[in-house]
Amino acid sequence: MGIRKTKIAGTGSYVPEKILTNADLEKMVETSDEWISTRTGIKERRIAAKEEAASDLAYYASKEALQTVGIKPEDLDMIIVATITPDMVFPATACILQQRLGAREVPAFDLEAACSGFLYGISIASQFIGTGLYNNILVVAAETLSKIIDWEDRNTCVIFADGAGAAVLQPSNDNSRIISIYLGADGGGADLVGVPAGGSRMPASFETVRNKQHYMKMKGNELFKRAVRIMVEAVNISLEKGDLDYEDVDFFIPHQANIRIIQAVTKRINLNMDKVYVNLNKCGNMSAASIAVALDQAVKEGKVKRGDKVVLTSFGGGLTWGSIVLEW
Ligand code: UT7
Repeated sequence: MGIRKTKIAGTGSYVPEKILTNADLEKMVETSDEWISTRTGIKERRIAAKEEAASDLAYYASKEALQTVGIKPEDLDMIIVATITPDMVFPATACILQQRLGAREVPAFDLEAACSGFLYGISIASQFIGTGLYNNILVVAAETLSKIIDWEDRNTCVIFADGAGAAVLQPSNDNSRIISIYLGADGGGADLVGVPAGGSRMPASFETVRNKQHYMKMKGNELFKRAVRIMVEAVNISLEKGDLDYEDVDFFIPHQANIRIIQAVTKRINLNMDKVYVNLNKCGNMSAASIAVALDQAVKEGKVKRGDKVVLTSFGGGLTWGSIVLEW
């Protein structure tokens, strides 16, 4: 990992107050708690308030991460925000966050890798720390997916949710470190999930609004099949790069898209479900924020302990994927 070892020095997270249950959704679309629970594993999810944007969620998660690590916003050397639901197309949510935190005029930018955004962000940050250029980098994954969901589309509205998770990366002088990184992407699957309008391909117009083309469209079933295969492959490659086997894994934090995907992947890598973090029952699918929030919760709950070998694995829109092995 470059010249210096890099570690995640601390984390933080924030989920909005408002809870939306499966029972609430039954009143909104043709669905049932039974269908959502058995097909996805989700029971409830958090939804941002009308006035709450991605940078607001990012701010609370970041404050907590900085506090955990014991550094101040002015100590930060770089800010990366992973999101597919930025406050606006531009300027970057990371710049808005920089200002709100009171950080110095350090580089701040957004990163769009959908559900893999947090892992892509950690990977980028670890390079800058590895080379010695920077010492404190804030990586935040913040999503307000509720704002790009068609609340009349049962294919998507029962799944996605809002939340933010943050991590501070620093050089490491002990065993706590990022051991290996594997990232990938396949634009051949770009049509499987995304928001068609509002970019340069299909600029906003009355027609795009009328046709609901600013909302997320997803071919869930096709994604499902690829998710399992690709996540297993990603875990394997990252372990191989770290010269580790399945038996070495103390804890697994996969992207939280569907409990059936998590179970299928876990089975194929010979792990017991008690070594796997699941928060989608309470948090739904928060895209980039899912793994970030899960890591913070797992640490707070004592499920990830110092010395543990932890694997973080993602898969999502793009398509993008990644797997990071670290020692906590
Ligand atoms: O975050 C990263 C990217 N996303 C993913 O990785 C998502 C991966 N995909 C999935 O998690 C699953 O494919 C879903 C949960 C999205 C869907 O589950 P599925 O088992 O693949 O269902 P399906 O799309 O094949 O639909 C099965 C049936 C359909 O009815 P018919 O055509 O068989 O009559 C759907 O219309 O279930 C119906 N259905 C629903 N029924 C009740 C779809 N959504 C709902 C719903 N409530 N909310």
